[in-house]
Amino acid sequence: MQKKLFIKTYGCQMNVYDSARMAEALAPLGYVPTDTVDDADLAILNTCHIREKAAEKVFSELGRLRVLRAERDRPLLIGVAGCVAQAEGAEIQRRAPFVDLVVGPQTYHRLPDLVARALHAPVVDTDFPAEDKFDRLPAARSVDGPAAFLTVQEGCDKFCTFCVVPYTRGGEVSRPLRQVLDEARQLAGKGVRELTLLGQNVNAYHGAFGKSEWGLGRLILELAGIEGLERIRYTTSYPAEMDDALIAAHGQVAKLMPFLHLPVQSGSDRILSAMNRRHRADDYLRLVDRLRTARADLQLASDFIVGFPGETEEDVAATIALIDRVGFVQAYSFKYSPRPGTPAAQMPDQVAEAVKTARLSRVQGAIMAHQRAFNRTTVGRVLPVLFERKGRHAGQLTGRSPYMQAVFADAPVHALGRISPVVITKAKDNSLAGKLCPSETLAGIGS
Ligand code: 5AD
Ligand code: SF4
Repeated sequence: MQKKLFIKTYGCQMNVYDSARMAEALAPLGYVPTDTVDDADLAILNTCHIREKAAEKVFSELGRLRVLRAERDRPLLIGVAGCVAQAEGAEIQRRAPFVDLVVGPQTYHRLPDLVARALHAPVVDTDFPAEDKFDRLPAARSVDGPAAFLTVQEGCDKFCTFCVVPYTRGGEVSRPLRQVLDEARQLAGKGVRELTLLGQNVNAYHGAFGKSEWGLGRLILELAGIEGLERIRYTTSYPAEMDDALIAAHGQVAKLMPFLHLPVQSGSDRILSAMNRRHRADDYLRLVDRLRTARADLQLASDFIVGFPGETEEDVAATIALIDRVGFVQAYSFKYSPRPGTPAAQMPDQVAEAVKTARLSRVQGAIMAHQRAFNRTTVGRVLPVLFERKGRHAGQLTGRSPYMQAVFADAPVHALGRISPVVITKAKDNSLAGKLCPSETLAGIGS
């Protein structure tokens, strides 16, 4: 019998990938995806634990699901997956005992069995199992548009003092090369044109290939040979793990897009050291110079944390100086959020909330100035755009430039799933508008 599965995804792209894989794992049980929780038989919240706000959202959403279930006459199975499930399994059972299923990110391959058991009694599975999850998840991937994610690496051994990820996702594990290549070929065969390789520390990838191991640079060279695949990206990276081969790949592989998310977190050496980051501001700047030597048009994005314990006005000034020096075209910035069990939560000199708010707005102002300026430089240029879906208005499509900018243009539906030349006519803070132009204008600018 057909049953409906509703998954709500919070947090990072890894969770987006995981949600798709969970849906694939549950298909053999008769579950088909739905976008509305009202007609669901099973609702899963795929959660994020990175900051307090993200984790608290889960409990309010669970409250809403409980009311929904009480108000209707059909049963609803309620599940919590992701990093909150991993980190707070017991807390979920205490605060939300009506939850039927708690499953951590390492055991999604067990979902069919867990869901079957949860029909009878509540189930919790937050193991770090010895078996390979990816070997046991269904091999067949479903695709949803021409851009897809592919997890190649999971977990983190870096232990930045603010971060829960090493605890929720476990140590660094790379998927074997063969598995990754098979999945990539399969996706390309199904119409995927742009592949984003995912990992918490994706550039620490070292996939087994027979008796040897391949790093991310070598993997990208291999992926570039797959027919149909036209764009490659990877996220997210740790600066100290950028090796020579990966830097060189930015110069060697035209399909590797000239946009890199390379979180620096702060521009102050004192704070970087307290964060247990393995780079100083200067290391980061030299790395950026090397990357730009390999690929001149490379644009960078980053993550920043403001209000880390002990942060002073000089530290914030150093962060803003680094932002101005690199000229990030996009960045996420966050107020430091103390997380249970992490060393920074115990540090003295926690920064007052109002101070964090004021610093965040200055840092965001500096980032936005560069983002805006970069977006403006594209006006009048022809950019190759991979159209991914229909836009808000009739006749409009939307897609991404090589630099990850969202681009809106009037274009026929048959342009969906293809890379088309678009002359940019207008730049906004977070998107570009443009017009399709004849394909010969694309010659010479690469795709
Ligand atoms: N508080 C605020 N931001 C955080 N991040 C990770 N942990 C915290 C925290 N405790 C940010 C970092 C990381 C991004 C995914 O989230 O900037 O790169
Ligand atoms: Fe967290 Fe640092 Fe690991 Fe990134 S590198 S996941 S910030 S511990």
